[in-house]
Amino acid sequence: MITQAIDEHTITDAALDQMSTTKDARLKEILDSAVRHLHAFAREVDLKPEEWLEGIKFLTAVGHWCSEYRQEFILLSDTLGLSALVDLMNDRRISDGGTTSSLLGPFYRTDAPQYELGQFIGTHEHGGTEICIYGRITDVDGHAVPNAKIEIWQTDEEGVYDLQKNRPEDMDMRGVYHADAEGNYCIRTLRPLGYLIPLDGPVGDMIRAQGRHGFRPAHVHFMIGAPGHRELVTALYMGNDDHIDSDTVFGVRGPLITETKQDPSSPFPNLPSVRFDYTLGRAEGMSGRVGADPSQITSKAVSH
Ligand code: BEZ
Ligand code: FE
Repeated sequence: MITQAIDEHTITDAALDQMSTTKDARLKEILDSAVRHLHAFAREVDLKPEEWLEGIKFLTAVGHWCSEYRQEFILLSDTLGLSALVDLMNDRRISDGGTTSSLLGPFYRTDAPQYELGQFIGTHEHGGTEICIYGRITDVDGHAVPNAKIEIWQTDEEGVYDLQKNRPEDMDMRGVYHADAEGNYCIRTLRPLGYLIPLDGPVGDMIRAQGRHGFRPAHVHFMIGAPGHRELVTALYMGNDDHIDSDTVFGVRGPLITETKQDPSSPFPNLPSVRFDYTLGRAEGMSGRVGADPSQITSKAVSH
């Protein structure tokens, strides 16, 4: 294509033409589509130079806010509904009867403390309401999955994750449990509180500019894995939360909405309890992990 012939309509084809040498077919598909949509977006809103620069400044700030304890790009993806869309498409692709997945979010850490079944998940004294979450883990044919690894993380009684505190390396309200040989699990934890997503960075500026409330309804994250089964990334949501229908990151799914109750069958009948049975999908499906421990992304990004 002759350069002088480029105008605001032919530039998209010119860019696609130049990128046509991309060897990896999937990379080509993704980048071609991204360019087509980016150009269409700029034309649709008739993007002005100063607006383009604002966008560049915003994305630069998002990058600067990323650290081993904070992933502002994932937060941006979450608040734009992109993470939930990727998650939903992944669930649809697999759909083999496994438990519905939900967002990993920015507060997952590897190497959380190990606990015995029934042990309390906090590393120090907490206020708030203690609850029990228990149930059974089976495969899609209803057979028990023995000894599954269950990673759990949530906010404390103030509605804050350990990663949001001054010493984020002190892990609290997160832990690793293993189901027993019959697939049963039981944890003692706090009733989670709904909370504001981190709004002190550029994503917070965007949320305020959009007039959104910024809350997530109360939830407890679960990541469950066992050899021969698909890793499950999900969360249980408290149905009576004011924001159950307006989650800022679009993570709530009907089958994951629960409520505590007095339950004589609970391993801790004196505690408000939630019974939730999980079903692990077949191993050949891909994990629904949309996200990662921020420190892993940071170390990969700097060690290329
Ligand atoms: C969370 O589940 O904690 C979360 C998910 C996405 C964005 C912010 C927080
Ligand atoms: Fe969360």
